[in-house]
Amino acid sequence: MKHLLDSMDLSIQDIDDLINLAIHIKNNRTMYRDVCKYKKLATLFYEPSTRTRLSFEAAMLELGGSVLGFSSANSSSASKGESVADTIRVVSSYADIVAMRHPLEGAPMVASRFSRIPIINAGDGGHNHPTQTLTDLLTIKSEKGRLDNITIGMCGDLKFGRTVHSLAKAMCRYENVKFVFISPKELRVPDYLKDELKEHNFTNYTETESLEMAIPELDILYMTRVQKERFFNEADYIRLKDSYILDMEKMSLAKSDMAILHPLPRVNEISVKVDNDPRALYFKQAEYGKYIRMALICRLLEVETYEN
Ligand code: CP
Repeated sequence: MKHLLDSMDLSIQDIDDLINLAIHIKNNRTMYRDVCKYKKLATLFYEPSTRTRLSFEAAMLELGGSVLGFSSANSSSASKGESVADTIRVVSSYADIVAMRHPLEGAPMVASRFSRIPIINAGDGGHNHPTQTLTDLLTIKSEKGRLDNITIGMCGDLKFGRTVHSLAKAMCRYENVKFVFISPKELRVPDYLKDELKEHNFTNYTETESLEMAIPELDILYMTRVQKERFFNEADYIRLKDSYILDMEKMSLAKSDMAILHPLPRVNEISVKVDNDPRALYFKQAEYGKYIRMALICRLLEVETYEN
């Protein structure tokens, strides 16, 4: 594993290995405090982020390494017209590993072709967000005890939501998994994703517009926000942005152990009253994100680990 560009770069075995290492790191933090001493992580974020960038930086700092980078295209030479290829050629001589977020789908892939150091896709346009997927899988494994035999509802903006695309592709490889895609017609999962699921012989999904109808059968409800930044037309965004609001009334229809996940940031799609429900795991999920990124950095930099 030289780079991580797409959730499908990871085999089931790779995912198991990263989850095991993340759990070991979480339970033995002092053992890992120096494993990346003298290593540098560059965070090249051409798009806004709170969780992904800060959890990557926290991960590297907790491993004893250092961080450098930029948090917007405007504060980098991209604003003067520099290409991703030229930027990465230069950053390859300043850092040991890169986490890159970019609004253009495929930008981290382009970077990987010109890089001498590992590139991690930290989200590219509406395409993929593999470290969010690893975060989601670690959360599900830790909280539900399994990644198979699960019915997962994905609700909201399934057209532009890259976290849904990544998670669906990763989870379709586990036994007896069912997806319930819940969205307005305009924001349904794209056909290319359905084609990719079919390539993995996965057809165990349904599509609905009704969260109320879907919620009783779900083991996990994965809520997403409507991705304002990917709409061409503000009127469409305003019309669709509050299509789903998870509140306590809808939660009364759910299983007593249904887990609510959300990659965050949340806008209106989960009422704050739901935050106190023990089934609301989204803030815990953000914390798991740091441990899985620590595990990923260790593996990509091939540093010594102690889990076995
Ligand atoms: N989940 C996620 O990618 O959040 P940020 O946009 O804050 O990084």
